[in-house]
Amino acid sequence: MSKSAIYPGSFDPFTNGHKNVIERGVKVFDEVVVAVAHNTSKKTIFSLEERVDILNEIFKDRADVRVDYFEGLLVDYAKRMGTNIVLRGMRTVSDFEYELQMALANKSLSQELETVFMVTDSEFSHVSSSVIREVVSLGGSAGKMVPAIVEKRLKEKLHKR
Ligand code: PNS
Repeated sequence: MSKSAIYPGSFDPFTNGHKNVIERGVKVFDEVVVAVAHNTSKKTIFSLEERVDILNEIFKDRADVRVDYFEGLLVDYAKRMGTNIVLRGMRTVSDFEYELQMALANKSLSQELETVFMVTDSEFSHVSSSVIREVVSLGGSAGKMVPAIVEKRLKEKLHKR
């Protein structure tokens, strides 16, 4: 039986750190489903459709990475997908508290759900979506931190404002 893991996130924007976790995740699981969270109360730079579109472009040549989206609780999405594994990356110790809280909340909502953590490679430990948003909005280059298509779309989006 093939084993897939859900890699959920806001991905606003998707970073090289996220990509690092996915590329290592597929070495452990048969398939990684990158699940973009649609949170209507959270203001994002990219719409849900734009984030899904960017991810589809990045992973278009990979059969072991699937792009999807979900609204509502992650545990409900995992049940619908028939998957009980959630993959999350951890960069530094400061991520731990947030990740622990989320993993325990999901566990209390669904006993079957297991969260598997992968430590993001150290070269990406400073890379976060919020840092990238700030760098690009102030005219800097995030080229080393995001895939080329993300940088291009970010520049188009932020400089149009
Ligand atoms: O990239 P992020 O913003 O750290 O991802 C967080 C995300 C989207 C994985 C998390 O907020 C989530 O799972 N949201 C769905 C709602 C939910 O299930 N909440 C309960 C667990 S905290």
